[in-house]
Amino acid sequence: MSSLGKKYIMAVTGLLLVGFVIGHMLGNLQMFLHPDWINEYAYKLKTLPYGLLWIVRIVLLTAVGAHIVTAVLLVLENRRARPAGYVAQGTLQASFASRTMKYSGAILLVFIIFHILHFTVQSIHPEFKHLETELAGVGTMHQVYDKLAAFGNTEVHDVYSMVVHGFSLQYWYVAVFYVFAMGLLCLHLMHGVSSMFQSVGVRNAVWRKRLDRIALVIALALFIGFSSIPVASLTGLLDPITPLTAAH
Ligand code: HEM
Repeated sequence: MSSLGKKYIMAVTGLLLVGFVIGHMLGNLQMFLHPDWINEYAYKLKTLPYGLLWIVRIVLLTAVGAHIVTAVLLVLENRRARPAGYVAQGTLQASFASRTMKYSGAILLVFIIFHILHFTVQSIHPEFKHLETELAGVGTMHQVYDKLAAFGNTEVHDVYSMVVHGFSLQYWYVAVFYVFAMGLLCLHLMHGVSSMFQSVGVRNAVWRKRLDRIALVIALALFIGFSSIPVASLTGLLDPITPLTAAH
């Protein structure tokens, strides 16, 4: 495949992944409303019809896989194309973010694997599986509460408390790792989002500055939005509603 074809794959898979992270951050920000919001939201996602959850998971996994394989191929291609001793010149004008794409990307992959084991599989803290709470009926998607109440049991997985416990003082280093990873995500997207436009030919001289600024705003908004959750949990701004010890 041509180098341009590879750049298109990077742009299309990158766009899909940026779309996911923006949606995921907005979903997560419900943590700052009543716990019902995120708990009902998580319940809704997990009970989506027609195996939709798995379809989305497979699409995301394929996008991540294609993004990584294509990135590795591009790095190898660039290395082959560049004569030895030419390295310093090639990197002179490149920004810090663009020069560090492979490192920020690799660490983000480690973060994603840890993150899935942390909150989705819950194998790092198996006790998270037992966090259950009664919905109070004040959430966003009242259908969930109404549907469960009709069966006389409004208990759901307490995703809200799971996240707060995950970033408690006891696990301060996990919160620090998350904020660090969000910083790398920000760095990765600062370059990634603007070069996404370049790959599809939108980035001319006039738009160059504007797109770089748009990329910076998106990256910073994601950094602040995501990081606010570990920070608020660690500092006690967010309080768990179900104690961890009671879960055993
Ligand atoms: C502070 C930041 C974040 C928090 C608090 C957070 C929270 C969560 C929670 C609670 C879940 C599990 C939901 C459930 O099973 O009920 C989850 C799943 C997930 N998160 Fe995050 N997340 C954060 C950042 C990120 C970032 C930056 C990415 C991607 C780069 C990401 C990717 C994912 C993925 C792929 C899943 C699995 C979805 C699934 O298939 O079930 N998360 N996150």
